Amino acid sequence: MRRVFTRIDHIGIAVEDLDAALALYERDYDMTLVHRETVASQGVEAVLLDVGENHVELLAATGPDTPVGRFLAKKGPGMHHVANQVQDIVATLRSLKESGLRLIDETPRTGIRNSQVAFLHPATAGGLLTEIVQPAEGH
Ligand code: CO
Repeated sequence: MRRVFTRIDHIGIAVEDLDAALALYERDYDMTLVHRETVASQGVEAVLLDVGENHVELLAATGPDTPVGRFLAKKGPGMHHVANQVQDIVATLRSLKESGLRLIDETPRTGIRNSQVAFLHPATAGGLLTEIVQPAEGH
């Protein structure tokens, strides 16, 4: 059977303050910071840290009225989403929709490091906000 996901790309973690969080992840966990970017369309400043061939993505809100800002207000810092890598995000979205899953993004949008990303609604994804990622060439 065809595999939907090729691997876990990253675990997304909501944080109140990126630099404070980096003290844990960079200094105490000794993870390597590989990327830092503000994704204005999603209202986040994000960093990627390497964990083997996978990543941790730390997300700080650019303001309270953003998806991560609302998440932090409701639940506080912690696990936000899991991102699975796919080879063809358009085909995967079509297939998951046919399977009856509720999509937050019907079409992919540009995510961190020029990846193409889309989110699946937790309601039909086992209670877990699930992102699918097609990395840009070279990542
Ligand atoms: Co993510």
